[in-house]
Amino acid sequence: MPETQHNHREIIINVENLEHSYGNFKAVDGISFSVKKGEIFSFLGPNGAGKSTAINILITLLAKQKGDATVAGYDVTKDPQKVRESIGIVFQDITLDRDMTVWEILEFHGRLYNMPPEQRRKRIEELLDLVELGAKRNERTKNLSGGMKRRLEIARGLMTRPKVLFLDEPTIGLDPQTRMRMWDYIKGVNNEGTTIFLTTHYMDEADQLSDRISIIDQGKIVISGTSWELKNTLGRDLIYLETNDNNAAIRLLQDLPSVRDVKPKRKGFVLMVNEDGTKVLPVVIDVLRNAGIETLTINLKKPSMDDVFVFYTGKELRDEPSGKIPMRPGGR
Ligand SMILES: Nc1ncnc2c1ncn2[C@@H]1O[C@H](COP(=O)(O)OP(=O)(O)OP(=O)(O)O)[C@@H](O)[C@H]1O
Ligand SMILES: [Mg+2]
Repeated sequence: MPETQHNHREIIINVENLEHSYGNFKAVDGISFSVKKGEIFSFLGPNGAGKSTAINILITLLAKQKGDATVAGYDVTKDPQKVRESIGIVFQDITLDRDMTVWEILEFHGRLYNMPPEQRRKRIEELLDLVELGAKRNERTKNLSGGMKRRLEIARGLMTRPKVLFLDEPTIGLDPQTRMRMWDYIKGVNNEGTTIFLTTHYMDEADQLSDRISIIDQGKIVISGTSWELKNTLGRDLIYLETNDNNAAIRLLQDLPSVRDVKPKRKGFVLMVNEDGTKVLPVVIDVLRNAGIETLTINLKKPSMDDVFVFYTGKELRDEPSGKIPMRPGGR
């Protein structure tokens, strides 16, 4: 199982009971989590959940109010300079000088961090290769596409070979294809040994990229774990049903030994089952038929990250469906 892969590794980000308020409004409400060296860790959460606030505290841009936070072994309050030297950052909003060229952006950043000229030049070449911007090296950033700008920002964040790269919604506003390419770049960066902390509100992104995920909603972490662990908390399979009498059907089915939980939906309901759904399905059909209940729709699927998100935040999705889900219950 993938979740044991990094268990032995040392912790590179540690956060305990972190809180942050803007005036009376508690944007981050006592979160605790840790990130292990070498992993890709995601904060998954809807708009306004508190992701950027938490990230801004970790990158020492926002003063910590309450709780503890260390990055690369350094306390964000006591050793902010050491933290900054250990990290690279890609902000949620594009922060490139429009009139500088791709090369100049990277060159300037290297100078800022006192990299010697030869090392600078080599690193820029490496990074242009990594994010496939070599052909655009002399282009002004205002003439780059959104995806290219993002890639350039990632390259800039990596100039100093940071231990941890923070990516705040790296793929926001990019088309699905470009987003998937971006995942490849991020994986490439991670393979170079950089720990990745990213925030996203795309379920599929967190699912595909991360070793571990924390779902954050209204300033609180609602669940943490590997993608497999999160999905598994919903049961082994989900059976979506619509019948001509859903209430009666739920009453009959909820006590079946293999049924872990029942969630009513707009037009039907979902059975969360602990066993192989293909074995449970015939039993369900029998029970309903014997009770004279007519089944209108049946749909069996594995829990997806969308299901996890809806289950733990109680929110329906706001973004476009991720497209990788083979079957989507009609009445979610
Ligand atoms: N400088 C600020 N002053 C007042 N309120 C703020 C400030 N920054 C953020 N907030 C509020 O704190 C909450 C959390 O904001 P934050 O930017 O951390 O969310 P987020 O999870 O990053 O959302 P998004 O996905 O939209 O980027 C929101 O309700 C936001 O309006
Ligand atoms: Mg944000």
